[in-house]
Amino acid sequence: MDTAARGLLSTDSRAAIDAMLDDRLYDGGDKSAMFDLIARVRERYARLINADVDEIAFTKNVSEGLNAIVAAFDWRKGDNMVLCADLEHPNNVFPWRHLVRRAGVEMRVVAPQEGQIPAEALADAMDRRTRMVSASSVTFAPGFRMDMAAIGQHCRARGALFLVDGVQSVGILATDVAALGIDAMATSTQKGLLGLYGMGFLYCRREWAEQLTPAYLSRFGVDLGAGVHEAALGDGADRLMPAARRFDLGNYNYIGAAAVDASLAMMLDAGPRRIEAYVTGLARKLAQGLVDLGLPVCGGVPPDGKGSSIVALGALGQGQHDTVDDPAMAALYEHLSANGVRLSIRRGTLRFSLHVNNNAADIERVIELARGHNRGTIGK
Ligand SMILES: Cc1ncc(COP(=O)(O)O)c(C=O)c1O
Repeated sequence: MDTAARGLLSTDSRAAIDAMLDDRLYDGGDKSAMFDLIARVRERYARLINADVDEIAFTKNVSEGLNAIVAAFDWRKGDNMVLCADLEHPNNVFPWRHLVRRAGVEMRVVAPQEGQIPAEALADAMDRRTRMVSASSVTFAPGFRMDMAAIGQHCRARGALFLVDGVQSVGILATDVAALGIDAMATSTQKGLLGLYGMGFLYCRREWAEQLTPAYLSRFGVDLGAGVHEAALGDGADRLMPAARRFDLGNYNYIGAAAVDASLAMMLDAGPRRIEAYVTGLARKLAQGLVDLGLPVCGGVPPDGKGSSIVALGALGQGQHDTVDDPAMAALYEHLSANGVRLSIRRGTLRFSLHVNNNAADIERVIELARGHNRGTIGK
């Protein structure tokens, strides 16, 4: 129950990695097969989030994707951007602070409301100099789902770019970037996409991408036409690749691509909506069971269709990553861990995060363990 830290690697992904390593070890590696793999992964990921293939770039992680967008934008002194910094991962705060120092851009920080990124407050903070709004689709703690469609609409109406950190939802919640009005979205593959560290995707909507100038440019971001060797220099015009492909640089993380190729195939086969319904259903069941024991679940049991894959227990902000101030919660964490439940502490809460590898028996076991521990220590 720790997908929000890193997901499980499937045996299919492991087999794909092994096959690639064997090929490299015994046969030197087949470059055209590697390029075919990249094309297939790009197409599968595009399909998963309802984007066009050209709207997907390969990155290392969330940080690289977010920074690629920030650095490619034509910022003017006095421009501003809006975010709810308290609920963002530091990787979606440092790039903005850097921008403030480098380019005189204003960072408008909106306060969270009961653990939520408040869509309307973000919109209220926007004005005619707002160029971007950035937010996580689901926060890493307490794991609430943000109203992406509402923010997307406000951004579209005002011509601002809506930039999403999608890492806590992609692969788990069905994500239709077109329907949600997302202009750019960064993710990495080690969490909900059930892949490896060091591999990520950047989606950027064509209309925006083609107005952006990447800070870095290299071979795969330059359009030399079909069939031209990767080492060719071209005619010197250095036309950028269409849409987000201009953000691709040099050789790819082929091993990371092989791992996520297998999980993308599984997700497309199972269907993103089915995965979402299954995982959020389990999370609601867990939240309900813990609430029934009198335990303080952040936000209580979410309404059907509004929850995420994350259930956070305890008071948000009491304690830090890996520590919790409340001795009762610390003891519960120890008890669960000692009994083989894998979870994390984030921002002082016990964070359970689920995926398709979990089932109803897992949920019952955690509730039973919490009930046993609860007697005499916490709640009723
Ligand atoms: C919301 C969120 N964003 C970003 C990250 C990580 O970013 P990166 O992939 O750049 O390491 C995490 C977790 O590690 C996260 O929970």
